[in-house]
Amino acid sequence: MKTFNLHIAAVPVRACAVTVGHGAAQGILSLLERLADVDRVFILHDTALQDIAERVQSLVPDSVLLPVPSGEASKSLETVDALVRELLLQHATRHSLLVNVGGGMISDLGGFLAAVYMRGIRFVNIPTTLLGMADAAIGGKVYVNAGPVKNVIGHEWYPEAVLVDLDILGSLPDAQLREGLVEAVKLGAVLDSEYFGWLEENLERVVAREDGALEAAVENAARIKTEAMGHGIELRHTLNFGHTVGHALEALSQFSLSHGKAVSIGMSCEMALSDFPDRQRVLRALEILDMPVHIPRDIDVRALWDIMRNDKKNVGNEVRIAVPIRIGAAHVQSLGRERFMQLLA
Ligand SMILES: NC(=O)c1ccc[n+]([C@@H]2O[C@H](COP(=O)([O-])OP(=O)(O)OC[C@H]3O[C@@H](n4cnc5c(N)ncnc54)[C@H](O)[C@@H]3O)[C@@H](O)[C@H]2O)c1
Repeated sequence: MKTFNLHIAAVPVRACAVTVGHGAAQGILSLLERLADVDRVFILHDTALQDIAERVQSLVPDSVLLPVPSGEASKSLETVDALVRELLLQHATRHSLLVNVGGGMISDLGGFLAAVYMRGIRFVNIPTTLLGMADAAIGGKVYVNAGPVKNVIGHEWYPEAVLVDLDILGSLPDAQLREGLVEAVKLGAVLDSEYFGWLEENLERVVAREDGALEAAVENAARIKTEAMGHGIELRHTLNFGHTVGHALEALSQFSLSHGKAVSIGMSCEMALSDFPDRQRVLRALEILDMPVHIPRDIDVRALWDIMRNDKKNVGNEVRIAVPIRIGAAHVQSLGRERFMQLLA
């Protein structure tokens, strides 16, 4: 018997610029100048965002639109398969660039597609929801769902650039805005007490889109998320605050419960499962956003636990949840079934 050791060459450290500002989508032009070897550009978008996608298309001659139906159900291997076939029909090569124009569903789906097409092509995110701008589009965690189980098929694949164009916020409905602000509250609660304090004072103004308050909320959330992605896995796990319970709720509701609402309920439950002293401050912020904080009556808590058992942070039989220990700092703690049932039943 012989063993040959393959020494894996270290992946070079790469940078990904996150640009925030009015008209930031125009940055695609200078990016394409920098990426001179790009042969074709494909714009993935959700069908509800045809206008925004066409505006991006008008900046890039000969780019091709790839529409997918809106909604979480599109974040699946079936959609990836259909898109791979479409890219092949269009003769996309390893030098083609994918531009994801949409919310978190599109940046997750498109990032995953870019990661697997021909073992990886480059991509750019132009987020169109506040949730995308503040969180989902930034970083390299890209996923699709396995049926109702959220984000269990994934990769780490970083965009060339993230262009957070604040002009796009103008078309975003208020309901979407509030949902996205749940992730902003989460970022403050686990990572940045100053930002959380600012949100406490300004959240009403942010929701009312007063005097640049919304822009400031987005810019700072994008900065905090970008900085966090440069840290180790433990800190990055804390970004999952609210998501262990939240993802299970999304699955049990067959995605009729939106991501922002599910995470809001998830944050409220996960705080109840820990000894976090500032729970009321977080609940108050969620209240201003008019987000739900209780598990819907028709949800079976035992079924919730069973789905949480498939969360990708878990080790052995325990579920791991990320919770703040004080505003601005968090840790990941283990939770057994009995305690979960005791506290939530
Ligand atoms: N990878 C990550 O780090 C990460 C982090 C957080 C969330 N996520 C994922 O993000 C997804 C949720 O993101 P989302 O809330 O943006 O959902 P989404 O992309 O499904 O968008 C929500 C709805 O808003 C509409 N929409 C999008 N932009 C719009 C605009 N400018 N104007 C009007 N309507 C618009 C969409 O058509 C859709 O109906 C989930 O799949 C979640 O798992 C990923």
